[in-house]
Amino acid sequence: MIELTINGQKRRVDAEGDTPLLWVLRDDLGMTGTKYGCGIAQCGACSVMIDGTVTRSCVTPVESVASAQITTIEAVEADPVGARVVEAWVKHQVPQCGYCQSGQVMAATSLLKQNARPSDADVEAAMTNLCRCGTYNAIKAAVRDVAGLAPAQEHGA
Ligand code: FES
Ligand code: FES
Repeated sequence: MIELTINGQKRRVDAEGDTPLLWVLRDDLGMTGTKYGCGIAQCGACSVMIDGTVTRSCVTPVESVASAQITTIEAVEADPVGARVVEAWVKHQVPQCGYCQSGQVMAATSLLKQNARPSDADVEAAMTNLCRCGTYNAIKAAVRDVAGLAPAQEHGA
């Protein structure tokens, strides 16, 4: 048995210690908002926050986060920064198919919790999650909005 703290609640799971956190969330706890994409830490679909820092849960052994605060998309709006990110995502109509978006929201929330006014370079460095629908410009616009920055100038429109 491993005891975890997920979204502020204690949860006990019967899992091997090296089981990826993603599978514990999805298969053992039924928290399917966190998505499986690549399984090799490349795409970011599985992003959650561990003690406030975005982390790819597909390569995170569950035993390594037994004493951490785990936050998933299901509770991101309980975080004041997360709530503003979700609001901006809606305002800017970021999602297309939506598959990558829970991970994108977690990455943006983690970034903005650690750096309230990120530069474009900061956003590019932090937001490495992939989006097959190409929502990158909308993501940047939403992050800039939460940070209180003016919309980026479009060139060559
Ligand atoms: S599923 Fe974890 S990074 Fe792709
Ligand atoms: S919105 Fe479709 S993969 Fe990102």
